[in-house]
Amino acid sequence: MPLFVVDPALCKRDGVCVAECPTRIIEIAPGAAAPRVPAEAEEFCRNCGHCVAVCSHGAVTLATMAPEQLPPVRADRLLGPEQVEHFLRARRSVRSYTTRPVDRELLAKLIDIARFAPSASNRQPVKWLVIHDAAEVRRLAGLVIDWIRAGLPTQATATRRNNQRVISLWESGVDMICRGAPHLIVACAPKEYLWAATDSAIALTYLELAAPSFGLGACWGGFFTAAARQWAPLQETLALPADQIVCGAMMVGYPRNRFHRLPLRNEPPITWHEPNR
Ligand SMILES: Cc1cc2nc3c(=O)[nH]c(=O)nc-3n(C[C@H](O)[C@H](O)[C@H](O)COP(=O)(O)O)c2cc1C
Repeated sequence: MPLFVVDPALCKRDGVCVAECPTRIIEIAPGAAAPRVPAEAEEFCRNCGHCVAVCSHGAVTLATMAPEQLPPVRADRLLGPEQVEHFLRARRSVRSYTTRPVDRELLAKLIDIARFAPSASNRQPVKWLVIHDAAEVRRLAGLVIDWIRAGLPTQATATRRNNQRVISLWESGVDMICRGAPHLIVACAPKEYLWAATDSAIALTYLELAAPSFGLGACWGGFFTAAARQWAPLQETLALPADQIVCGAMMVGYPRNRFHRLPLRNEPPITWHEPNR
């Protein structure tokens, strides 16, 4: 099947698919019945589906996406600015979890939502590693503690004094690494890829934002991620393919507590750049 097919009976030649194609490979030749993608330009397609999604006439089909496969955008499900602001401000890092395990299907559902995050050139490079077993999460947290004990953490995580506190608390039964979360979801991406960290962070952000709607809490695992970059015993046990690295990790579980207020944050430092005159 060709990459890009237009039904001339449905196409209104409004040029919308041409304008929205991120790589500008769609063209409407003068007098042609419908737009097309020249064969030599097909390699530039990002398979983002914008051409199919933006056509209000259902005229465009990509080899991988037919219009009838794409759910419609539901205006009644879109949020207004006040709801969005409140939703985003009400998101919290959750650091107290119940011992109730989260079904694998539900963790998979979170990842399924995260896959719709934007990624550079729509490359979708993130691979997911899920540590479902709570005892294993704790064992991995212990490996991170070993990494801290070995004196390896840099300023990326914390100061020497804080590291000492993390170790002392661990020894007294308080897990500052994975916060006693029953599960850990790890985002991995190709080691040499420029946007690995960015794409992973955005995907994890989607996952974190989606979690509360399922009654779940989440928290970024910064210690874990830093250790996974450096600490051979942790790397060995994670056993990633050689070309992959850990780009981020999210603790997940059922929250023990509920937040009742929206905490304050710094004013954003903004510089409005003006043209030089
Ligand atoms: C990249 C990154 C790494 C983080 N690492 C940790 C971590 O290792 N442990 C932890 O408890 N929280 C971690 N956090 C959560 C932050 O501490 C938290 O986002 C911040 O204190 C603000 O709180 P809020 O998320 O509830 O708004 C991390 C957050 C980010 C974005």
